[in-house]
Amino acid sequence: MTRAGSTAAVPQREQWTGQFGFIISAIGSAVGLGNIWRFPGVAYESGGGAFLIPYLVALVTAGIPILFLDYAIGHRFRGSVPLALKRLGGKLGEGLGWFQVAICVFIAVYYTAVLAWSSSYFVFSWDLRWGDDTAGFFVGEYLQTAESPFTLEFVPSVMIPLVIAWIVTLIILAAGVVKGVQRANMIVIPLLIIGFLVLVGFALTLPGAVDGLNAFFTPDFAALADPNVWIAAYGQIFFSLSIAFGIMITYSSYRRRRSNMTGAGLVVAFANSSFELIAGIGVFATLGFFAFQQGIAVGDLEGLTGVGLSFMTFPAIVSQMPGGAWFGALFFGSLTLAGLTSLISILEVVIAALRDKFGWTRRGTVLGFGVPLAVISLVLFGSTSGLTALDTIDAWSNQLGIVGSAVGMSIIVLWVNRKGPVLARHLSTVSTFKVGVLWQIFTTVLAPVVLGYMLIAKAVDFLQNGYAGYDTWYLWVAGWGCIIVMLIAAFVLPQLRWSQDPDRFDAWPTDDQLRVKGGAR
Ligand code: ALA
Repeated sequence: MTRAGSTAAVPQREQWTGQFGFIISAIGSAVGLGNIWRFPGVAYESGGGAFLIPYLVALVTAGIPILFLDYAIGHRFRGSVPLALKRLGGKLGEGLGWFQVAICVFIAVYYTAVLAWSSSYFVFSWDLRWGDDTAGFFVGEYLQTAESPFTLEFVPSVMIPLVIAWIVTLIILAAGVVKGVQRANMIVIPLLIIGFLVLVGFALTLPGAVDGLNAFFTPDFAALADPNVWIAAYGQIFFSLSIAFGIMITYSSYRRRRSNMTGAGLVVAFANSSFELIAGIGVFATLGFFAFQQGIAVGDLEGLTGVGLSFMTFPAIVSQMPGGAWFGALFFGSLTLAGLTSLISILEVVIAALRDKFGWTRRGTVLGFGVPLAVISLVLFGSTSGLTALDTIDAWSNQLGIVGSAVGMSIIVLWVNRKGPVLARHLSTVSTFKVGVLWQIFTTVLAPVVLGYMLIAKAVDFLQNGYAGYDTWYLWVAGWGCIIVMLIAAFVLPQLRWSQDPDRFDAWPTDDQLRVKGGAR
C-alpha cells in the first residue's frame, strides 16, 4: 500500500545493484575537477596548512551533515530532486528542487568544457605541444580567447573534444543507472585511483618536492581571521562533496530500502577528502620541483590557482621534467576521468527530474534535453568567449547558487516542513551510524546561520566589487543572469502538471513498522 492510499502498483525506480555500486558512484561524483583542479589552489591561497582548520570544520559542521540530509531526503522520498522535495514540502519544496536542477544545468555546461580541455591536454602531453610559452599557448593558440566576451567564432580544437565529451557522457546516461552510470564508475574509479597514486608517488620523488609540501602545509594562522577563507572552505566542501545541488538526493533515491546510508556517507566523505589532500600533496610536490628548477621559492611562483594552475603552470613543469610526457598524460588523464564521472552525476540530476515530471523515457530525455544542452555548451565554450564565461558562471553558480540552495534546504525542509526528526529517525533506522541531536543542530541552526551569512557577504561583495575585473554589464548577463534563470525555473516549473501523481510512491512504512521489521543492514 502506498502512502497516498492507492493499492495500484507504483512504477519501479531504477536501483544500484548494491551498496558497492552506490558507494563507488557517489565517490565518482564527489571526486572531480573540484579535487584536482580547484582544491590545491584554494587551499594555498587561503592560508596553506592553516586552511585545513576551516576545511575540517566545514566538513564536520556542514559537509557531512548536509550529505546525510541529501541522503535522507532522496532515500525516504524516493524521487528526483523536485519530486522528492515535492513529496516532502509541496510546491515550495518542488521549487527548491528545480532551483537545484538549474544549478546542475549551468555547472554541466562549463564542466564539460574543462573536461574537454583536459582531454586535449592529455593528447598534447605526449609531444609537449604547448611549447615554451604555456600561457600563450592555452589562451591564444588553443582557446583563441577573444578580447570581447561576446564574439562567437568557433574554435575547432576545442569543439572536437567538447563534442566527444558530450557524446560519451550522454551515451553513458542513456544506458541507465546500472548499465551506464554504475558500470562507468566501476571501470573509471579504479583506473583513476591507480593513475593518480602513481602520479603523486612520482611527484614526491622529484627534487624540491619537500619545499613544495612545506609551502602547502606551513600554516598562515593570520588567514583564519579572514572571513573569505572560511567562505572558501565551505564553498569547497559543498562543490567537492556534490551536496546541496541535487546529486546526492538523486543518487540515494536509487538505493534499496534497507541500506546503510550514513555508513556509506562516511566512506564517501572520507574518500573524497583523502583524494583532495593527496591531490594537494601531489600538486605542491610538483610545484616544489618547478621552483627548485628556477632557483626561487614556491611562494614566488605565479599562476597557482584554478585554470592557470592546471593549464598553464602544470604544462610548463611537465616540459622540464624527466619523463614529462608520461607525467602530463597521467595528470590530464586523471583530470579527465575524475571530471567524467562527476559530470555524469550532474547531468543525471537533470535527466531524472525531467523524466519524473514529464514521464519521458530515459533515452528520449537524453536526446530531447541532453543534445540541445550540448549545443548550448558548444556555442558558449567551443567559441572564442569560453574562458570568461566559464569563470563567471562558475563563481555565481557555486558561491551564490549552491550556498543559497543549502540555506533553502535548511529553511524549507527543516524549518517550514519540520522534517528534521523524521529524517533523523529514518537515517538512524536504516543505518549503522546513528544521527541525533547534533546532526539536527548542525543542519537546522548552524548551517542556515553560517551559510546565510556567507551568501549575503558574497552577494554584497559581487555587487560592490564586481568580479575579476569583468565589465558590470557582462556580470549581470553571465553571472546574475544564471541566478535569475535558476529562480525562474524554481517559480515556473512547479506550476506545470506532473505526468504521474507525485504522492503515489513506494513509500516507507512508518517508523514504528520499520523498527518492527528490523534495523539496519
Ligand atoms: N564534486 C564534483 C567535483 O568536485 C562536482 O568536481
